Amino acid sequence: MSVPLVTDCPELTAAACTLAQAYGLPNELKEEPFYLELFLDGLALVWRTRTDLQPLRLSFTDGPQAWRQQQGGGRQEAVVRALGIAKGFRPSVLDATAGLGRDGMMLAHAGCQVYLLERHPAVHALLDQAVVHAKQDERIGGWVQERVQVLPRGSLIESETITGQLQAIHPQAVYLDPMFPERGKTAAVKKDMQMLQALVGGDEDADALLPAALALASHRVVVKRPSSAPFLAGQTPSSQIKTKKHRFDVYVKKAYS
Ligand SMILES: C[S@@+](CC[C@H](N)C(=O)[O-])C[C@H]1O[C@@H](n2cnc3c(N)ncnc32)[C@H](O)[C@@H]1O
Repeated sequence: MSVPLVTDCPELTAAACTLAQAYGLPNELKEEPFYLELFLDGLALVWRTRTDLQPLRLSFTDGPQAWRQQQGGGRQEAVVRALGIAKGFRPSVLDATAGLGRDGMMLAHAGCQVYLLERHPAVHALLDQAVVHAKQDERIGGWVQERVQVLPRGSLIESETITGQLQAIHPQAVYLDPMFPERGKTAAVKKDMQMLQALVGGDEDADALLPAALALASHRVVVKRPSSAPFLAGQTPSSQIKTKKHRFDVYVKKAYS
């Protein structure tokens, strides 16, 4: 599904054109159901047919994500525990299904070196711009610059991506949170996740991610699943961390030492 990047502000026309080119997106709006709109304060994803939903603005410096980092920030977050953060030890993590970057930023905030990989062009653009803004922020810019890198758009299961930058990174851990088809059906699904799911679909090829992640990670792979979902690729994990709605399946290759 093609997602144009456009603007309504005449003073942003040139910037929108440059960004569209940089992210390989069209710069002209036709009948597409989704588009990215450039505002003075950044990009927003608009779902044309769902006028009841606010455009999705991704920000790590304002709103719920900033709050989550200030309050939790933390080692108590299940995702952080699943990655195996211990006293004085922070693994390097490839977040290979980065999406809106919330889990990845949480891991970076907890002290991990985090590489964010996303394959959808519009989601990649939204995420990359949010990280660019976060790097310029007075409060969080320091650790974001030091620990967060958005990789060029790609996928662990596309050979062009793997032969390039990923092997050089050699992460200790790979984190996977592919879209699960059931997600959109519950009322509790957050609006931004509904929007993301309508845009990217159900990640039907997700099973292929596990062997690729296990081949790349030196120490462990962590997979986030809804509580009732089967194991990714039908593979039983070494251990699990459970929360009310989710499970973190942990596949240990070797202990961190
Ligand atoms: C459920 S969302 C991830 C949410 C993310 N953990 C967060 O905290 O915002 C899944 C994302 O993974 C991306 N994705 C799925 N399969 C992928 C693959 N093979 N390579 C790269 N990205 C992938 C999808 O495009 C989607 O944006």
